[in-house]
Amino acid sequence: QRPRILVFGSINMDLVASVAAIPRPGETVLSAGYRTLYGGKGANQAVAAARIGGSVAMIGRVGRDAFGEACRANLAGNGVTTDHIAAGEEPTGCAFITVDATGENAITVASGANGSVRAGDLPDALVDGETVAVMQMEVLLSASLSAARRVKAAGGRVVWNLAPAPADLTASDLTDLLSVTDIFIVNEIEALMAAARLGAPADIEDAARLLAGRGNVTCIVTAGSAGAIAHDAQGTRLHAPALPVKPVDTTGAGDTFVGILAAELAGHSGLGNALRLACAGASLACLSQGAQNGMPTRRELDDFLTGSR
Ligand code: RIB
Ligand code: NA
Repeated sequence: QRPRILVFGSINMDLVASVAAIPRPGETVLSAGYRTLYGGKGANQAVAAARIGGSVAMIGRVGRDAFGEACRANLAGNGVTTDHIAAGEEPTGCAFITVDATGENAITVASGANGSVRAGDLPDALVDGETVAVMQMEVLLSASLSAARRVKAAGGRVVWNLAPAPADLTASDLTDLLSVTDIFIVNEIEALMAAARLGAPADIEDAARLLAGRGNVTCIVTAGSAGAIAHDAQGTRLHAPALPVKPVDTTGAGDTFVGILAAELAGHSGLGNALRLACAGASLACLSQGAQNGMPTRRELDDFLTGSR
């Protein structure tokens, strides 16, 4: 059976150091050590979707190196189909992450093999009307765009997470991207940045409304402890709360949100329910170190929601 959720995107190894405060430019801070943890926005989203029971294939590239083998094995271990992960000449993508005492982070991504991902890495035979494809911004935009076009042509749906939002994103890139997107997911900063390419948003709500209307998409804005809002092109607004948690590490919270949302949509869950589960899952993900460690299983998510009701 075909995997319904196709995550087209990045696979990284994360090198994570805990610091009291994230260094400013020119500053050096000491950390006792570092951890090597699985990451990459694409891979994180794939794992989040698989943990709650989605059938997921990862489309991406790693290097012919130890990190690449480990990343592939980690995805497989989480039940993600890895047959469409190619090994490229570049090294496996690597993210250098500092996490401060409040769980905030700063990340530098060395793209490596992710830079070689091509639309052709997504086989046509994998795509049909039940496909939910998930895109982010850590592989070439042109590759994601043409892969998304093929998904749309086959009658599938496209979830696009504008993360990390490139500072040089043009209005025309954004318009192209929205034209092949059904569900557009941004954080508050990305929402304002993207909406400013198309108009003059007054605030987050306005930005979401503008993006939904101009792009003819459902625009979801994740707002950390404030939960998430969704605006569609017809003017409907939904909100779901985050859970009251004390974050240990927010790395991967956004990816958890995206993965769970995609899995719920692929399972024909309504948007309101998908939003509620994605918010709860993202909150839980903040309670563990690393992008993937805290991502809940379906059982953990259900138990938590039952317990907190
Ligand atoms: O969203 C978190 C991810 O961003 C990390 O896992 C890191 O690899 C970067 O891609
Ligand atoms: Na985390």
